[in-house]
Amino acid sequence: MATEKIEQLRATKESIRMGGGEKRIEKQHAKGKLTARERIHQLLDEGSFIEVDAFVEHRCTNFGMEKKKAPGEGVVTGYGTVDGRLVYVFAQDFTVIGGSLGEMHAAKICKVQEMAMKVGAPIIGINDSGGARIQEGVDALSGYGNIFYNNTIASGVVPQISVIMGPCAGGAVYSPALTDFIFMVDKTSNMFITGPAVIKTVTGEDVSKEELGGAMTHNKVSGVAHFMTNSEEECINDIKKLISFLPSNNMEDAPIFEPQDDMNRLSERLNEIIPENANKPYDMKDVIAEIADDGDFFEVQPYFAQNIITGYIRLNGQSVGVIANQPKVLAGCLDISASDKAARFIRTCNAFNIPLLSLVDVPGFLPGVSQEYGGIIRHGAKMLYAYSEATVPKVTVILRKAYGGAYIAMCSRHLKADVVLAWPTAEIAVMGPEGAANIIFKRDIENSDDALETRAEKIAEYRDRIANPYVAASRGYVDDVIEPMATRQRLISSFDMLATKRESRPSKKHGNMPL
Ligand code: HXC
Repeated sequence: MATEKIEQLRATKESIRMGGGEKRIEKQHAKGKLTARERIHQLLDEGSFIEVDAFVEHRCTNFGMEKKKAPGEGVVTGYGTVDGRLVYVFAQDFTVIGGSLGEMHAAKICKVQEMAMKVGAPIIGINDSGGARIQEGVDALSGYGNIFYNNTIASGVVPQISVIMGPCAGGAVYSPALTDFIFMVDKTSNMFITGPAVIKTVTGEDVSKEELGGAMTHNKVSGVAHFMTNSEEECINDIKKLISFLPSNNMEDAPIFEPQDDMNRLSERLNEIIPENANKPYDMKDVIAEIADDGDFFEVQPYFAQNIITGYIRLNGQSVGVIANQPKVLAGCLDISASDKAARFIRTCNAFNIPLLSLVDVPGFLPGVSQEYGGIIRHGAKMLYAYSEATVPKVTVILRKAYGGAYIAMCSRHLKADVVLAWPTAEIAVMGPEGAANIIFKRDIENSDDALETRAEKIAEYRDRIANPYVAASRGYVDDVIEPMATRQRLISSFDMLATKRESRPSKKHGNMPL
């Protein structure tokens, strides 16, 4: 008898494991997609997955649903480990009613969200769904609402990672949007509020699914997503790499990795990286690679707002969030998108106790009518707010230009950077020497016999007197002017000194960040 029951249990579990059945699994594979269970298997350490709620069933009786079986309710949920660390997961199963979300499907997701919060583990959600289960009506909407609420409550408590590996449409997109990071796979994933057909009817615009909400669109144009990969396997590897830089929750620090790299390694290359001509660009990513342990930089949002670079490195084994101007793109100016990208990244790091390193070479905020109309004032303010609000260790290195409001915005001493270092090539001033000379020496230039020569002299005078690091250093706004080659060494010692930093703020419900 007992054997019979055990066999029955095995058979039931096996049938649940088959999801929507062989045909639908084949269809999924033919699209270049793995099934929900295959994805979880690849993500988690071998044999570590513990499934919960496999027996959950829907309760819908509308439109013949009472006769429709939905193994696992269209979503596989549970927990396991990634590189030995506990994580919670859910993966929507497209082979079961198109992964559509009903009341009980949502309840399964909510349960793992709540468990992840209780035990302080990251939660990874793999989205592949036709959206709200149409037959369930308001019960499906209620399910989404509950997930959004939990996303918000979990925000800043445990890292939340969304992975889009199929359709994610309608209000469904708001769960990923409320999480910390969104991964998308090129050509097989999309996100949109309304699809191409509805858009055609309402606005008359013709657009393909891929153009409207494909991985490249959201990585490059909208900035909704943070990572794009060419395959699901690559995506899963990147998720693991991201997790390695993050703590499991807001009460912990990120794991330390025994570094291979020498903490005192000097970089001759950095002494020569700034071009003689101040208007010539260089690649800030070369600087980051020279500084980082083993030259390893994990970039976040590499395609969006490339005038600012964000991502993670390790310094002597410790995770550090890097925010760096990129002189190669828009001369490194801050614009609306760069401000949004940086502010979001700074807040993610601060929420999860990851120290901030800012590398500055910024000629200013980008001028232009479209920037002003687009609200650069409120977007730029996000950066000031995010840096000021951050209480994690903040170290800033000024490499070259640091002008005007953008100087302040890039984690200056005035926003309470803990350590500010400058290279001898730093130019810290209200504006660039050319523009400044044109204004303050206008008369001298106009009245001189050789306007061109006088202008050049005045620019040089301005650069010598004002646009260098020594005026700021004489005020204590810059702690030290260092040789570029010693940057890695100084950063490691600065973050080491700051490891016990504690900073408290007046208590309040929450600040009113400009949005
Ligand atoms: C119920 C659904 C479904 C849904 C798909 N299915 N989406 N069932 N509710 N939302 C079912 C299909 O009927 C089909 O069942 C199976 O899943 C596979 O779907 P196919 O259409 O055969 O797959 P494919 O051709 O790959 O197309 C995938 C798709 C399409 C593009 C996602 O299914 C689709 O357009 N679905 C509807 C999308 C949608 O409008 N959803 C509502 C969005 S509004 P059988 O039995 O034939 O295999 C929304 C509001 C959320 O989500 C609000 C939150 C606040």
